[in-house]
Amino acid sequence: MKNIYLHSFLFLLAGVFYACSPAKEEYHIGVSQCLDDAWRQKMNQEMARELLLHPDMKLSTRIAHGSNELQCAQIDSFIAERVDLLIVSPNEAEEVKPAVTRAYRAGIPVIVADRRVTGDEWTAFIGGDNYKVGSLMAEWVQEQLSIRQTRYTKDKPFVVLEVMGLEGSTPATLRHKGLMDGLEEMPVEVHSIHGYWHKENASEAVAQYLTSHPCPHVIVAQNDLMAVGAAEAVANHQSSITNHKSSIPIMGVDGIQVGLQAIEDGVIECTATYASRGDLVIATAAHILAGEPFVHDTILETTMIDAVAARAMLMQSHERLHDLETLRIVQLRSDTQWHKMRREHRLLVICLIVVLVMFFSVQMYQYFRLRSVQSKIKNEVVPQLENVQEAIQLSRRDEAFSERLREVVDAHLTNPNLNVEYLGSILQLSRTQLFRRVKTVAGKGPLDYIRERRLIRADELLHTTDMTIQQIAMELCFSSAGYFTKCYKDFFGHLPSER
Ligand code: FRU
Repeated sequence: MKNIYLHSFLFLLAGVFYACSPAKEEYHIGVSQCLDDAWRQKMNQEMARELLLHPDMKLSTRIAHGSNELQCAQIDSFIAERVDLLIVSPNEAEEVKPAVTRAYRAGIPVIVADRRVTGDEWTAFIGGDNYKVGSLMAEWVQEQLSIRQTRYTKDKPFVVLEVMGLEGSTPATLRHKGLMDGLEEMPVEVHSIHGYWHKENASEAVAQYLTSHPCPHVIVAQNDLMAVGAAEAVANHQSSITNHKSSIPIMGVDGIQVGLQAIEDGVIECTATYASRGDLVIATAAHILAGEPFVHDTILETTMIDAVAARAMLMQSHERLHDLETLRIVQLRSDTQWHKMRREHRLLVICLIVVLVMFFSVQMYQYFRLRSVQSKIKNEVVPQLENVQEAIQLSRRDEAFSERLREVVDAHLTNPNLNVEYLGSILQLSRTQLFRRVKTVAGKGPLDYIRERRLIRADELLHTTDMTIQQIAMELCFSSAGYFTKCYKDFFGHLPSER
């Protein structure tokens, strides 16, 4: 019985917990982004989209806004929170390395994305081929050189203005190296200035350069944002040119919306793809967390985007935007549906709990009723039954005594010594006991009983023998015939002579 209550109670408890518990997120992933520009936002969106396929993973994103110190502190806070995996795009390779190493040594798998850290204490790397990006820049410069009528020499070189990103970040150094290696044998002079990956910084740096140098033949900017910034500075400098259109050919890198639009608008000439692949980063994280095989070092392809390609990509991206909008609506609908289902599910659980509570209460009520009936039986019915049994036993004893009494008395009817003491001694009872027990079974005292038995025998003799009243009175020990006659009349209601 107790077990039923225990089980129902546990079941009820489990139901309540189940109904109240939120959906379980198993893995907490920390994302440390060095910057928050358009390229990074694209990467974040790709990660968020891929995450829809992994409902057991939750992302926390922290942005360092180009500060190595802040990024290290943010990584340390992720370590303290014991995240299950860390995704990091380091601001500068050497400066952020210590924090990445700390995370790795704390047993947290680390995916380094886009920019590298020095050393090899990380789990996986996913990023573009920056040296190849530099080589593409060099190829483009050569093309620009070859389409000019002028012959350039070491003394009268073709001048390339390179707008670099942050020097301590690996893409900046590798892109620069790719460019320089590609132009090694060429009559080209490369002037490098720093835009730190930002449009405004690039714009300022180019404007500053133009104040002390003649216009370069071409500009290569290490990203699209800086290319647009450079174009603005050139346009401002060459006040004769309107519509922000620069007379100097400019190449960017990344192939993000801003760059493609700038090509379409004639602001810059071309760019190179630099994939962010946030989706691949999340998929790799999922593999690592599941203990599945993954690629240790993923280098993403890069390619040139000219005006034709940019137009095609813009068209595609409009279509994709439309698709995304449709997807968003579908997702919104499915979210609403999901919430509705969850509400219904909760309602169902509540109903179940109510039913269980009712069942539990009925069981409790029955249990306590049963207990009260049991105690009633124990306290009232059982003693009564015991009384009845006792009474039955008593009456059996009385019956036996009554028989024995009659036998003894009848055997001594003619004995003049038959009196209370004599009868008591035969029946082995004291005077009081004898009186009480004879009174119980016969309803009269022992002497009255003896007289009654003598009168019954006398009546028998009167009817079955020729004995006279005198003889019968003597035989049955009456003191006289007169006394016998009186007693007989009192008992039978008529005289013995009237038989
Ligand atoms: C974005 C960005 C990109 C560039 C990359 C290099 O923050 O500056 O424009 O290609 O980082 O890491």
